Amino acid sequence: MTEKKNTLILKPTKENIEKAAKIIRDGGLVAFPTETVYGLGADAMNADAVGRIYEAKGRPSDNPMIVHISRASDIGQLTRMLSPQIVEIIDNFWPGPLTIVVKKRPEVPDRTTGGLDTVAVRLPDNEIAQALISASCCPIAAPSANLSGGPSPTRAKDVIADMMGRVDAIIEGDDCRVGIESTVLDLSGEEPTILRPGIITAEAIEAALGREVKYDASLTEAAQHVQLDPANGVDEADFQPKSPGMKYKHYAPKAEMLIVEGERNKVKSEIERLKTMNEKLGNSVGVILFEEKAFLEAAHDFFARLRDLDSEGVDMILAGALSDSDGVGFAVMNRMLKSAGYNIVKV
Ligand code: TXA
Ligand code: MG
Repeated sequence: MTEKKNTLILKPTKENIEKAAKIIRDGGLVAFPTETVYGLGADAMNADAVGRIYEAKGRPSDNPMIVHISRASDIGQLTRMLSPQIVEIIDNFWPGPLTIVVKKRPEVPDRTTGGLDTVAVRLPDNEIAQALISASCCPIAAPSANLSGGPSPTRAKDVIADMMGRVDAIIEGDDCRVGIESTVLDLSGEEPTILRPGIITAEAIEAALGREVKYDASLTEAAQHVQLDPANGVDEADFQPKSPGMKYKHYAPKAEMLIVEGERNKVKSEIERLKTMNEKLGNSVGVILFEEKAFLEAAHDFFARLRDLDSEGVDMILAGALSDSDGVGFAVMNRMLKSAGYNIVKV
C-alpha cells in the first residue's frame, strides 16, 4: 500500500466539482456517483494516474477499465471506427447504463485497457458524473469504487467505508438509481455480444439493432451454475470469460452466502428452516428475499443489502434466487451467484 491520503469529502457543488476536476487533471483519484454504482475515477489518458486506481482498489493490473465521457462526440478521442451498429447503439442508449467495447486508438494507454486492443466506453446519465467529466476536460477511467472483490458501492457511505485514506476526494451524491453496474456490450467484432448483463437487456439491444445479440459463453447458465473448482470436473482453463473482470472473486460479502432456488413457497420455507437450524447452532443469519418479479428493486437494493448485513456482522446470508428468464432478473442473478461463490441449493 502507498501512503495514507488525506481524503476530501465533497458535496456536489459547482465549486467542489471544479476542485475535483483539478485533482483529476493533476493525476489524482476522485470517487463519484453514477446512475449505476459509484466509480473511482482518474484521467484515462494518463497511465500513472490509472495505475493509482489499481493500487487504491487492490485490483489486479490486467483488469481493464471503463472509460467515461460526457458527450457522445468525445468517443472519437478513444476509437477511430464508428460502425453503423455502434452509432445505432449510441443513439438509442446514451446517456445511460450501457458500456460499449470498441477498437481502441493507440493513444489510449495499455494501462487503461489492461493491454487489450479494445476500450470500454460509457456515457453515464448522472448529472454529477457528467459535470465532473466535462470539467476535467479528459475521459475518466473508472471501475466501481469498492475494494477489489467486495460488493459494489451504491451509496456515498459505502465508498467512504472502502476508500477513506486511499483516494484524494469522494463526491458525496445520492444513492445510485440503478444499483448494479452497466451492461457491457462488445461491438468490436462482427457479432454484438453481451459481456456483462445489466438493466439494459439483450431484448432491448436486439430491438435497437434489429438482430440477434449473444451472451458471452461465460454467462450461460451452465457456466454460471458450476463452481470454478477442478474437483467439480471444470478446469479453470475451460472457463475463459472475454470480459477479464469476470474471472476474479467478485462482490463477495464477509459472511458465508447460500442461494436457495426453486418455487417461491418452497424457497421461503427452506430459507426459514435453514435460518432456524443455523441460529440454534449459534450462527447469526441474514436473509435476502426480494418480492417476486420486482427486478429493478432487487437491482437497486442487492449490493446495499450485502453491505448492511456485513455491517450487522451476520455469519451467514441466505438469499432467494430470482427468475433469470427476465433480462434484469438475469443481471441480478449474475451478481448474486458470484457473491455466493456459486453456492446454490435447489428445492
Ligand atoms: O456501471 C459501471 O459500468 C461502473 C460505473 C462506475 O460506471 N463501472 C464498472 O467498472 O463497473 P468495473 O471496472 O468494475 O467493471 C468493468 C467491466 C469489467 O468486467 C471489465 O473486465 C470489463 O468491464 N471491460 C473493461 N474494458 C474491457 C474491454 N476492453 N474488453 C472487455 N471487457 C472490458
Ligand atoms: Mg467492479
